[in-house]
Amino acid sequence: FILRLLHVLAVCSTITANVILDVKENALSKDFMWGLATAAYQIEGGWNEDGKGPSIWDNYTHIPGHIAGGATGDVACDSYHKWRDDIKALKEIGVKHYRFSLSWPRILPGGTKDRVSYRGIVYYRNLIKELKNNNIEPMVTLYHWDLPQALQDRYGGWVNETIIGLFKDYARVCFQEFGKEVKLWLTFNEPWCVTVFGYDTGTGAPGVNMTGYGAYRTGHNILKAHAEVYHMYQEEFNKDKKGKIGITLNADWSEPKSNKSASDIKAAERELQFQLGWFAHPIYVNGDYPNEMIWKIGNKSRDENLKKSRLPKFTEEEKKRIKGTSDFFGLNHYSTNLVTSASLSGASYFNDIDVQNSKDPSWSGAGYPWLKVVPWGFRKLLNWIKDRYNNPPVFITENGISDANSTLKGILDDDFRIDYHKKYIQNMIEAVNSDGCQVIGYTAWSLLDNFEWNSGYTQHFGFYYINFTDPSRPRHPKKSMKFYSQVIKNNGV
Ligand code: NOJ
Repeated sequence: FILRLLHVLAVCSTITANVILDVKENALSKDFMWGLATAAYQIEGGWNEDGKGPSIWDNYTHIPGHIAGGATGDVACDSYHKWRDDIKALKEIGVKHYRFSLSWPRILPGGTKDRVSYRGIVYYRNLIKELKNNNIEPMVTLYHWDLPQALQDRYGGWVNETIIGLFKDYARVCFQEFGKEVKLWLTFNEPWCVTVFGYDTGTGAPGVNMTGYGAYRTGHNILKAHAEVYHMYQEEFNKDKKGKIGITLNADWSEPKSNKSASDIKAAERELQFQLGWFAHPIYVNGDYPNEMIWKIGNKSRDENLKKSRLPKFTEEEKKRIKGTSDFFGLNHYSTNLVTSASLSGASYFNDIDVQNSKDPSWSGAGYPWLKVVPWGFRKLLNWIKDRYNNPPVFITENGISDANSTLKGILDDDFRIDYHKKYIQNMIEAVNSDGCQVIGYTAWSLLDNFEWNSGYTQHFGFYYINFTDPSRPRHPKKSMKFYSQVIKNNGV
């Protein structure tokens, strides 16, 4: 009997230990933030309603040939009118936070503080109030790409230093109007896309081709604008320190094509520094660009002669102002590239990096060719951030997968989306529990199928389907919606 009892006790304790281990392996802090994201131009519509001014994306999409199928964001998901339905959908999923952006020209139609649109303010006030009533924390992006067209016309947009003060004026209005309720702020969404597509390749609004230097110049002004707004928020609007403000940077993981090749390993690091380090190094390390960029394009005479040296230079004062200006590390991550070293000629942002990217043919995907499912890349990227930037608290502000399905069944039965999020979240949890990375929140992209920039409505990222030919734009949950809801309930997968 005693032997049997001992055996039973031993079995029980093993089971208990395993259960504890399982729970621990899956455990995220109970304060972990789960949410969903959208952006103003991609969902709001109402492009010229109630006094809203045009943005660079309004103008860009209105030029034929720019967007797949000639699509525009004029109506999009019609969230300008149907925002209550969005909140209902968020509630149904059970998110803790909702990340959305403010449209600068909806608040300041001409871009400057001379004219504030009361109706624009009321729209966001209602949205924020209703979110709070439903216990959903608003996370607000100030700039998700829709610059007032007036500022592009008058100043050339982000190329011109004047924009720094104008962005600060706009941010001040937002903090004054919404700062009491909103405690999570992001200055910029993906400055990399704003600068590279907007001002170097010219394939995104405003479509400027300053190839080889436009991206670096605009990036410089964005970093300074970000720092100014960060300091203003802390000094004038966050005296009780209850708010947090940061910036959201995008990065794919760069995996050396061959781990035996020293030049591939260097190339992968170079690409990460050119993409993520470009903005992260000044903010999280020393106020200046990473060496990989300085060595490649910013020789000693940086700034004095743009032809020789295309990377502008910060003054010592500016470096001090930029360093440390983020309360968390906002990260958008989607996929991974295999990287090999290449020798490319001709000055352009992409040629400057001197790399060639490819995908492993075994990686699966669903919509975009660049968006292959490589969950381990997410874990590696989180570790890279931990090692390079002294383990900052990372807030995942976007992660998701698109499809280009045309049948309703294909769109609604989105098992590939469930699979993607499950594996990416698992890798994130491993990065936290096994590798010691700090991750404080996860935001899936996106609540709704929406206007996907150059691809118009042909790529769907949503947990809710929208039929864009139906004028009332009803929101239909996809299979993935239930899955994500369960993830939130379980605080993990
Ligand atoms: C990042 C951008 O922030 C978002 O606007 C876009 O829709 C997604 N990536 C998907 O491409």
